Amino acid sequence: MSNLEVLFSPVTIGTTELKNRILSTAHQTNHVHDGIPTSAMTAYHEARAKGGVGLIILEAAAVHPSGMLTTHTIAGYDERVISAYRRIADTVHRYQTRVFSQLFHGGREVASSTYRNAAWAPSAVPSLRFSVMPRPMSVSNIHDVIQGFALSARLAKEAGLDGVEICCSHGYLPAQFWSEHVNQRTDQYGGSFENRMRFIVEVCQAVWASVGEDFTVGIRMSADEKTMDGTTVADAVKIVEYLVEQVHLDFINVTAGDSSTYSGSTHIVPPSPIEHAYVASDGFRVRMAGAVPVFVGSRIVDPVEADRIVATGQADVVGMTRALIVDPNMPNKAQRGEMRSVNYCIGCLQACIGHYHRDLPIGCVQNPVAGKEEELERKLSERPRQGRRVVVVGAGPAGLKAALTAAERGEDVTLIEEQPRIGGLLTLMRRAPMRQELADTMLDNFARNLDRVQIDLKLGQRASVDSVRQLKPDLIIVATGATPYRPRIPGIDDPRVFDVDDVFTRSDAMGDRVIVMDLFGDWSGVEAAIFMARLGKNVTLYTARLYIAETVHQYLRNEYLKALYAVGVAMHAHYDMGSLVGDVLTIRNLFTYEPVALREWDSVVLAMGRVPRTHLSEVLGGVGVPVVSIGDCLAPRTLEEATFEGLSSVL
Ligand SMILES: Cc1cc2nc3c(=O)[nH]c(=O)nc-3n(C[C@H](O)[C@H](O)[C@H](O)COP(=O)(O)O)c2cc1C
Ligand code: SF4
Repeated sequence: MSNLEVLFSPVTIGTTELKNRILSTAHQTNHVHDGIPTSAMTAYHEARAKGGVGLIILEAAAVHPSGMLTTHTIAGYDERVISAYRRIADTVHRYQTRVFSQLFHGGREVASSTYRNAAWAPSAVPSLRFSVMPRPMSVSNIHDVIQGFALSARLAKEAGLDGVEICCSHGYLPAQFWSEHVNQRTDQYGGSFENRMRFIVEVCQAVWASVGEDFTVGIRMSADEKTMDGTTVADAVKIVEYLVEQVHLDFINVTAGDSSTYSGSTHIVPPSPIEHAYVASDGFRVRMAGAVPVFVGSRIVDPVEADRIVATGQADVVGMTRALIVDPNMPNKAQRGEMRSVNYCIGCLQACIGHYHRDLPIGCVQNPVAGKEEELERKLSERPRQGRRVVVVGAGPAGLKAALTAAERGEDVTLIEEQPRIGGLLTLMRRAPMRQELADTMLDNFARNLDRVQIDLKLGQRASVDSVRQLKPDLIIVATGATPYRPRIPGIDDPRVFDVDDVFTRSDAMGDRVIVMDLFGDWSGVEAAIFMARLGKNVTLYTARLYIAETVHQYLRNEYLKALYAVGVAMHAHYDMGSLVGDVLTIRNLFTYEPVALREWDSVVLAMGRVPRTHLSEVLGGVGVPVVSIGDCLAPRTLEEATFEGLSSVL
């Protein structure tokens, strides 16, 4: 048993008894068809309920057709939602997990949809991030939306959910009304503080009137929007003090961030290396101001930390959303004291919010089953053929995932790695200034999992046809990764030209004036530039993309840009490398084709992607058993494909 007694103590929120303090906050799964949750959403939440979470708040459900954020937003106002919600409620209740819905209206925040509906907002003040100019709401529009909140709450109750959370966070509609900057109305819903608060007060009153007292109702808010012209913690305290005087609230769920600006949006789903639990102290200030139970989340990944947050009175319930995406069984493991078997979130954003922004169903870089429970849990439960021998070559993320999955299924596994340590590309990433936590945590997850299973791990050994044949495999999995790409252009082999892999190990060999040529807009060129600038070098970054870090998730890109500006890296988009002749490095504008000659430099760093190592998979074909290539040696892509192929290669 663990000693996380506070985290695993029950608590009553409104009329809802929670068995523990762990919360999965609202997050879109994109498992919504025509406004209605699909069975894949039920399976997704069942996995987390089975794993022990105390409370699930379902993803944002629009309370009115004008409030849809994307095509995949739940239509919370549509009666058809009742049966889908009932299926989810019945399923998670079997595990004593409680479930709320989130009542949502995006206001001027309309992200994407096949038909982009006209955005409604208090006033015609644009949202910069989604380039939306909204239509000011008439008083009759306001009343319709308030009725939508009331109707959606009633449908949630009829479906058997335990409560609702009114979404006032991240600069969505209620926050747009209370913001002095966004709300420029001159009627009873604008102007004075009381007038700007009228909308949320009337929403809460209408919701209570429609659900009665035997239901749980609270709000979610960003204590600090962390954006220019946004609300601060001091504003939040004032808002909470006023609101709890006007209406009853069973809880306040405290978060951070604002959807309408690039830098504010980072805090909707903060990436690493943003500090763990950085919103918890704001939770405490709101708890003191409102004297109602407070939930707090954002980068809380460790149950020990969650226990401390509750024990020190910063919050009553702790949001651990991505922690549960990565490891749905985290609560049960933590309660049993099996901390070494918990897999921790790395804050990469790639497949959770990254998928959402690409309109794909939710996934997870570390847990390829997340979002695919219906399909993959069944496959994983099918017993593998008895006594199969699996040989995996390469202990990077793809090979490790394959070896671990096969071993967990009881197969006889040998893992061969030519380096003296596991990790592959992760060992490079851990030297990159802003990827260090990500790589360290992922490696640590892998290492602890390796300790739990039976794998014959051969480090520092180069696999050959003979050595693999001697192991008498039934299946060979090749995960040998990739090497840096160098385009065949004049001067490319000049000793002043380095690959990005060299930056973190051979920075002494580089001169003071460094040019980074980036081809793919991924993490590597940016990290190299930041690394060298922090060493005091004069760095210029050229990217062949439309903008810097184009292929990195937008929230992480914000952090990269902040860091690049802070260390004074000069940045230019739309250039690739043409040639290097003598001291003249010629770059080319990708649109005008104009060459530009650069003479003021000492070293050039190439961040140009990687080339698959295909040789071994070709020769291992001679062993006479199936050979499957996975990860970068199949084709260089990202961590997500590596772990997914690792898992699927052995199923
Ligand atoms: C895929 C995804 C979708 C999200 N959708 C919502 C949402 O519908 N409503 C909301 O209030 N927050 C949403 N969030 C934010 C989460 O509720 C949570 O605040 C965020 O993930 C940070 O907490 P964590 O570090 O525990 O993951 C979403 C997060 C993710 C990862
Ligand atoms: S995709 Fe990355 S950030 Fe998202 S839950 Fe998985 S590990 Fe965490």
